[in-house]
Amino acid sequence: MTDAAESIAPLTAPLPRTRDLTTSFLFSSTLLSTIHLNKLVHLILSALVYEPNQLFCRAMLYLHNPKTRTLQGMLGICRDDARSLRVVDMSPDNLLTGHWDLDDLAMERQRQAEFCSMVRASRINLEEDCPIVSRAVRERLPCRISHRDCLDCRGCGFVRRFEMSTFAIAPLVTRDRLVGIIVVDNCHGELAIEDDQLRLLQLFANQSSMALENSQLYRNLEQTHAELRDARQRLVHGAHLAALGEMVASLSHELKTPLVTIGGFAARLGKILEAETPQRQYLDTIISETQRLEHLLGDILAYSRKPTICYSCFDLREVVKESVDDYAIVFEEQGITCDLQLPKARWPVLGDAHQLKQVFINLLVNAQEAMPHGGVLRMSLSRGDTEKPSAVIVLRDSGGGIPEGSLTSIFTPFFTTKQRGTGLGLPIVNRIIQNHGGVITACNYQGGAEFRIVLPLAESSDEPG
Ligand SMILES: Nc1ncnc2c1ncn2[C@@H]1O[C@H](COP(=O)(O)OP(=O)(O)OP(=O)(O)O)[C@@H](O)[C@H]1O
Ligand SMILES: [Mg+2]
Repeated sequence: MTDAAESIAPLTAPLPRTRDLTTSFLFSSTLLSTIHLNKLVHLILSALVYEPNQLFCRAMLYLHNPKTRTLQGMLGICRDDARSLRVVDMSPDNLLTGHWDLDDLAMERQRQAEFCSMVRASRINLEEDCPIVSRAVRERLPCRISHRDCLDCRGCGFVRRFEMSTFAIAPLVTRDRLVGIIVVDNCHGELAIEDDQLRLLQLFANQSSMALENSQLYRNLEQTHAELRDARQRLVHGAHLAALGEMVASLSHELKTPLVTIGGFAARLGKILEAETPQRQYLDTIISETQRLEHLLGDILAYSRKPTICYSCFDLREVVKESVDDYAIVFEEQGITCDLQLPKARWPVLGDAHQLKQVFINLLVNAQEAMPHGGVLRMSLSRGDTEKPSAVIVLRDSGGGIPEGSLTSIFTPFFTTKQRGTGLGLPIVNRIIQNHGGVITACNYQGGAEFRIVLPLAESSDEPG
């Protein structure tokens, strides 16, 4: 197998004919005419098989995958598929102008051709399949191979698959890195591949390697540029949102004081006005709407406030129990049975007990609102199966579940399906849990919604039981 592949003979005669020079010129101009990788590979292979160039009949491109040490077929073009190659921008007075071009339709036709599909379906394993290809790749030199050299090799079936007789391989190498190989042959190997043809192939392969590398770099640059542009837009958007948030927060603060005054005076008027009169009804509307606005402004302020946690170590069971106890009467009046499962031992959490109570109350209120005609609420506290100690708090109600299609939006500020909701309850909950290093998730199960919170526990000698 050592002599199997014939390498190129030393250059003895002066090079080459005018046709080859014109072809070389057109080829290098073509490589400069586009930066798009896909178009480049179509143009490179088409130029190699374009009939007037009298070079080869079929050309294939295999790209190297260094991870799997394989060459994967990417494109194959035969002479018939390259007929649509045309010279553009050529001046009749100057032969050294112009370049080849292909339109999108022609490239699509090339990709759809049977030969191209065969090439794309083939792969050469450099470790196992073809010692000749492996040698050409190792030595980084073009070589000419006869099908007889491949008779003993049962590995890749490359020669058999493409019915090749004599063919040539040119490695594509940039900065000492193998990009792929170009394989060419002549009318199913009936014609020999001449030294001049092999030299041109080497020249083309060298130029193509550089063009492919440039194109790849350009593509990476474009991608990085697009990512930078996106990041910049996100930053600008973030800054706008922050400014907007600050404005909303200060506006809410300003509005809260007169609202409290209006509510206070309305309540005083309520004591004077007689019940069941139209005036009293108007006043009741003023009172309830004022309360709603106060609630809304309170939520907006809570959401926009900078996250500050007053750290202390407390027992999570107590906070859960206190929150449920606060709602016991409301639940009872609404026909809701509450089943609370708490562990016996102390569960220490380092965090803000007040904020965590706000979390549980928001979830309890949502559950209560989901079960206006009664139902069952199950709440449990158990140990998480995380590496560091954690608590899992699960709330399940029987209120019919979160509306279809809303599951992905419920933690988004101002998302609500309720007529008088603000849609800030769950975003506030989410933020508090995240600030405590925890995670909250929601899902539906038979007949209701389930909220699951995983919260880190403080490192403590008390082992949760
Ligand atoms: N237990 C639940 N069962 C069914 N849907 C729920 C439940 N909890 C939340 N949701 C859905 O999530 C939405 C958002 O809840 P969130 O608490 O953020 O706002 P809200 O309850 O609508 O208003 P508010 O700001 O007054 O709490 C609700 O409008 C509802 O569609
Ligand atoms: Mg709510």
